[in-house]
Amino acid sequence: MSKQQAGILSIGAYVPERVVTNDDMSKIVDTSDDWIYQRTGIRERRFAGENEFTSDMALRAAQVALQRAEMKPTDIDYILLATASPDNTFPNTACWVQQGLQMGDIAALDISTACAGFVYALELGAALVNTDSYNNVLVIGAEKLSSITNFTDRGSCILFADGAGAAVVTRTEGRGTVVCSRNGARFDYDALNVAAGGSRMPASHETVEKNMHTIALKGRTVYKFAVQKFTEMAEEACSRGGIKPDDVALVIPHQANVNIIESAMKRVGIGMDRVLINIDRYGNTSSASIPIAFDEALAAGRIKRGDYILLEAFGGGLSWGYNLIRW
Ligand code: UT7
Repeated sequence: MSKQQAGILSIGAYVPERVVTNDDMSKIVDTSDDWIYQRTGIRERRFAGENEFTSDMALRAAQVALQRAEMKPTDIDYILLATASPDNTFPNTACWVQQGLQMGDIAALDISTACAGFVYALELGAALVNTDSYNNVLVIGAEKLSSITNFTDRGSCILFADGAGAAVVTRTEGRGTVVCSRNGARFDYDALNVAAGGSRMPASHETVEKNMHTIALKGRTVYKFAVQKFTEMAEEACSRGGIKPDDVALVIPHQANVNIIESAMKRVGIGMDRVLINIDRYGNTSSASIPIAFDEALAAGRIKRGDYILLEAFGGGLSWGYNLIRW
């Protein structure tokens, strides 16, 4: 492994104001608070306003992270923005953030690995710093999933939500160090996709009528895959980091379903008292879920200097990844 100087200097998060409860969802589809909570752990989620876009939420989270890093927007020399719900195909959402924060003509790149986006972006951001190519990378996960949710499908619409989180990645001299990361992907179209809107199926009256611009998922398939991947990744991260599961102070998993997380953690031998869960309040915000949860863990004093923190995620692709952090 190379010198590994890169680390997380600060985190920021933003969630929109509007709270949508399970009872609110039951007015849209045939469901109930009890079903949603038992099957997913979700009680409520946040939806962005009509004129609030993915880049707006990304920008708000980035401002908080920059302020905590005591940096100006112009101190950043690379933006990596993970999203499955970009403002546009292009300009990409990172460009919207760049101009919104007046960051100058720096590199602005969107990463499209759905819910695994933040862990992919963090690995790349750390690599850019570790190879001395760039100094200060802004790594963002931001989503307006409510704009690509099928509100006629009760099996999926109860899951998704909006929000953003950001991290400033730089040389941190042993603080927040990204010890090791691994990303992977295995093609599976049917498990999770947005079918229309690309070159394979351009927008047409038919695609709009059939709701094909929204997320389609095979819940059970993804569920089984996710339990297995979360388990494997936690074991691999510990082994590569030279630690045991008992040494992990806190796991911050992608908030897809509390039952997925509990099953995997049981297999690995990590008690739920060492796992950050906030899906009850925010639902599944895809690439934003880990940085939002990370921000909450720091605010709650759940992370101390020197702690090992494990981030892990899976998503459409299928894609997955983890980062082991030494705080
Ligand atoms: O972040 C990456 C994307 N996330 C995912 O892909 C999530 C992974 N999957 C899951 O979290 C779970 O599979 C779901 C929460 C999506 C579904 O839970 P499940 O326990 O796998 O339920 P199921 O799909 O097997 O459905 C069980 C029953 C079905 O009824 P029958 O056929 O048994 O009569 C569904 O029709 O529950 C019914 N059902 C619902 N009932 C009330 C499905 N959705 C709902 C609903 N409310 N919202």
